[in-house]
Amino acid sequence: MPKITLVNEKREIEIPAGSNLRLELLKAGVQVYPGLAKYLNCFGNAQCGTCKVLVKKGMENLSPKGMLEKMRLGIMLSAIGYENELRLCCQCTVSGDCTIETRPLPNLSGENFWQKPYPNK
Ligand code: FES
Repeated sequence: MPKITLVNEKREIEIPAGSNLRLELLKAGVQVYPGLAKYLNCFGNAQCGTCKVLVKKGMENLSPKGMLEKMRLGIMLSAIGYENELRLCCQCTVSGDCTIETRPLPNLSGENFWQKPYPNK
C-alpha cells in the first residue's frame, strides 16, 4: 500500500495502489480545497484547478498528466514557478509512496519573469 506523506497536515496515510489521490485524501478527512472551493469545485473533473497539490517527492509514483490536466494547469497563474511539481490530485492515480503539500500558496518569491525587472544586471 503506497504511503502518502502530507506536509501541511504533518501526517501519513496509506492508500490502496491504483487509487485516485483526491478521493483517498477526502476519505482520510484531509482538506484538499481552500476556502469556498470546499463547496464550489468541479468534483474531480479537471475543470476548476482548486484541488492542486505540490508533489515534493515521488512524482514518478503518480500517473502521468493527461490532456485535461495539462490544459487546466496551462491556464492557471498559480502554476507559474511550479511547472514540474504541481498536479491536480483529482487526476492522479497513485502507485507508490509520495510526499505532497495540499493547498499550496502561489510562488510569489520564486524565479518568475515579472520579478526580474533588470535581467542584464
Ligand atoms: S476537483 Fe476540480 S480540478 Fe480537481
